[in-house]
Amino acid sequence: MKVTGTDAMWGGRFEASPSEFTQVFGASLPVDQRMWRADIAGSVAHSAMLGKQGVISQEDVDAIHKGLEAIGKRIEAGEFEFDINDEDIHMSIERNLTEAIGAAGGRLHTGRSRNDQVATDAHLHCKGLAQELIGLVNDLRAALLEVADANFGVVMPGYTHMQKAQPVLFSHHLLAYYWMFTRDCTRLTAARDAADCMPLGSAALAGTTFPLDRAFTAEQLGFAGVYPNSMDAVSDRDFLLDLSYACSVTMMHLSRLCEEIIYWSSDEFRFIRLSDAYSTGSSIMPQKKNPDFAELIRGKTGRVYGDLVQLLTVMKALPLAYNKDMQEDKEGVFDAVDTLGDSLVVMTGMIRTMTVNADRMRAGAHGGFMAATDLADYLVGKGMPFRDAHAVVGKLVLDCEKAGKTLQELTVADLQAADPLFDEGAVEAVDIDQVVAKRTTQGGTGHDAVKAQLELAKQRLAADQA
Ligand code: ARG
Repeated sequence: MKVTGTDAMWGGRFEASPSEFTQVFGASLPVDQRMWRADIAGSVAHSAMLGKQGVISQEDVDAIHKGLEAIGKRIEAGEFEFDINDEDIHMSIERNLTEAIGAAGGRLHTGRSRNDQVATDAHLHCKGLAQELIGLVNDLRAALLEVADANFGVVMPGYTHMQKAQPVLFSHHLLAYYWMFTRDCTRLTAARDAADCMPLGSAALAGTTFPLDRAFTAEQLGFAGVYPNSMDAVSDRDFLLDLSYACSVTMMHLSRLCEEIIYWSSDEFRFIRLSDAYSTGSSIMPQKKNPDFAELIRGKTGRVYGDLVQLLTVMKALPLAYNKDMQEDKEGVFDAVDTLGDSLVVMTGMIRTMTVNADRMRAGAHGGFMAATDLADYLVGKGMPFRDAHAVVGKLVLDCEKAGKTLQELTVADLQAADPLFDEGAVEAVDIDQVVAKRTTQGGTGHDAVKAQLELAKQRLAADQA
């Protein structure tokens, strides 16, 4: 049976139907059918509330619940036939229900509009999506901690402007990402909480004449509260923007890690080797092993940003209350959530299985005169103002560069020729492990500071997982 305009559930006042083409154009079913669980849960709670308030009979409530349960089973088993002519998941389930149970099905929509229904479904569904993403972000955080722990003591060059700057512990570098993903967890939690508010009971925009108990429905559905304003309730899509933004920032963090993974695994760096399971070959160059999946996550970041901008643009300048534009609200968010979820799974596997080349990292830490600040600090310790010390060591670096020497190759005599304040201790000061260990400030790369940071990170993860 084709349900077209005149025989649609809203068809009473219509004499002509949209064309088949227009019908499909106006449908959101392919996008919103994944909210079927939320839609059924919402209808179960709404009808239970209508029964409790004496708006519909208990027999009707029972029939509705049985009918919805049967539909849920059919959808779950893949036996439910979605018909694009139903427009959306709400119409689809309601029509099937009414076909199955008759008049009781027709009473389900009492005191409800699709406007508060779709908003409620989206809130419920997105609460769940945000929670799933939080779990996946926490898996990645756990993987970063494992690798940071297992490679404690490995020294690598730290960069600014992609030029060698100062040596750091590899664990410290990974922990920087850990904290980024920790903030993502906070952002996703805020997005989840933004969705934890129920629009249902607002009806089309103005509330309804039926004596609804919104608090009861909210409790049935596990919402923390209800929207205080019915017009805001049906028009608000901030919670979707929050989720989309949280996804965008997390993707941005992933893309930065991807970028590092890509150059770390290049032949010029060889700091890490990706597992074969997270690499691909070339169809022409037999020797190739490409970090495809890191590149792909980096690339997919663009589409997640696009999803955010799309929704911001849909919502811009929309008058109150519901406008059909808002049907365009879910596809991008679902895409952002799917893309981020998959990317997190891939990244977690990639991090867990990569091989760390500690020797290459250490070798890299010897180049680039990365102990220069420490030599300057050494002179400061002997009483020289820092600016003067900076100039002395700058000149020393220039001389070394011309002579093709590293700072570690200089003798005490070489150093004293640059400035008489240098002595034996200065040779020790340029030792790479010393350079790292001496950065004892809280949050610095010194071994003890990183140990404390690792401990803090573990505690924070455990708290976030609880
Ligand atoms: N399919 C619509 C959507 O996803 C449901 C709400 C329709 N409401 C309306 N008044 N036409 O936004």
